[in-house]
Amino acid sequence: VIMPEKTILITGASSGIGEACALYLDRLGLQVFASVRKPCDAERLASQASARLTPLILDVADEASIQAALHTVRAAIGDAGIDGLVNNAGAFTGGPLEHLPLAALRQQFEVNVLGQMAVVQAFLPLLRQNHGRIVFVGSTSGFLATPLLGPYAASKFAIRALADALRNELNGAQVSVSLIEVGKVNTPIWDKAFALVEEMKGVLPGDAADYYTPMIEATVARANRRGQTGIEPNKVAEAIYRVLAADHPKPKYLVGADAHLQALLVWLAPAGLLDRLIRWQMGI
Ligand SMILES: NC(=O)c1ccc[n+]([C@@H]2O[C@H](COP(=O)([O-])OP(=O)(O)OC[C@H]3O[C@@H](n4cnc5c(N)ncnc54)[C@H](OP(=O)(O)O)[C@@H]3O)[C@@H](O)[C@H]2O)c1
Repeated sequence: VIMPEKTILITGASSGIGEACALYLDRLGLQVFASVRKPCDAERLASQASARLTPLILDVADEASIQAALHTVRAAIGDAGIDGLVNNAGAFTGGPLEHLPLAALRQQFEVNVLGQMAVVQAFLPLLRQNHGRIVFVGSTSGFLATPLLGPYAASKFAIRALADALRNELNGAQVSVSLIEVGKVNTPIWDKAFALVEEMKGVLPGDAADYYTPMIEATVARANRRGQTGIEPNKVAEAIYRVLAADHPKPKYLVGADAHLQALLVWLAPAGLLDRLIRWQMGI
């Protein structure tokens, strides 16, 4: 079991899973570096945590801010390394691919994919030093891409591939890489997603609005239904802790009953049947 003196960096700790995880690990006595983007979030997080927790300002899409955060961590730990990196920061972009501005797709990858790798690259020397652990917060959208979630799912598929490659690359350095594939969690990401979807309905050209609006509404209705069954962020925090504390961390973990069910479905159902199930469920 991981001991309190372990040092963990977690990104995207202003809300949802990242915040819950930062506070949970802090309560367990670990030394937590928790990254946020806004100073007010840093202050709020610090006020909720012990003096051990150090908030960092870090935008994963901004290389200079990653370097500045690395500098702060080094200044705090001296010659020591770090024991864990939880790559949690992420954003949601969705919409009909036919009309999705390519800039939006690029931005999705910039944050959810390149941003994760930039943080990994920056902190790997410190992780190598302690034979540390990397945990990616993935999603069921990383193995099942449903309509209108294309950009987000593509980014999570990409993370899955990078985690797979990285895991074997770092095996010899004794740095473990785990991916947790999380089902629905009750966090602010959903409100942000719904706001985006509403915005999208307003900007679709005439014919496209007729074609895609029922699909958009079905997606929102489906997400709302699932919303009632989403797990609390603390459950994911516990799962992340288990990865950090395991004697032998596994390559992949499913978190949430819906994640287990979806993984089983993808494993069992041929692609054509899966498509029909998805369309049937959405009524399209
Ligand atoms: N909620 C779910 O159902 C679910 C399911 C599976 C996987 N996930 C994944 O879990 C992770 C956390 O999501 P969440 O549900 O907890 O949502 P959330 O509450 O919206 O948290 C997302 C976090 O990422 C941060 N972030 C966004 N863009 C960033 C950037 N460019 N640089 C640094 N930080 C950035 C946000 O910071 P700001 O507050 O500054 O924007 C926030 O702290 C994401 O990777 C998400 O894909 C969520």
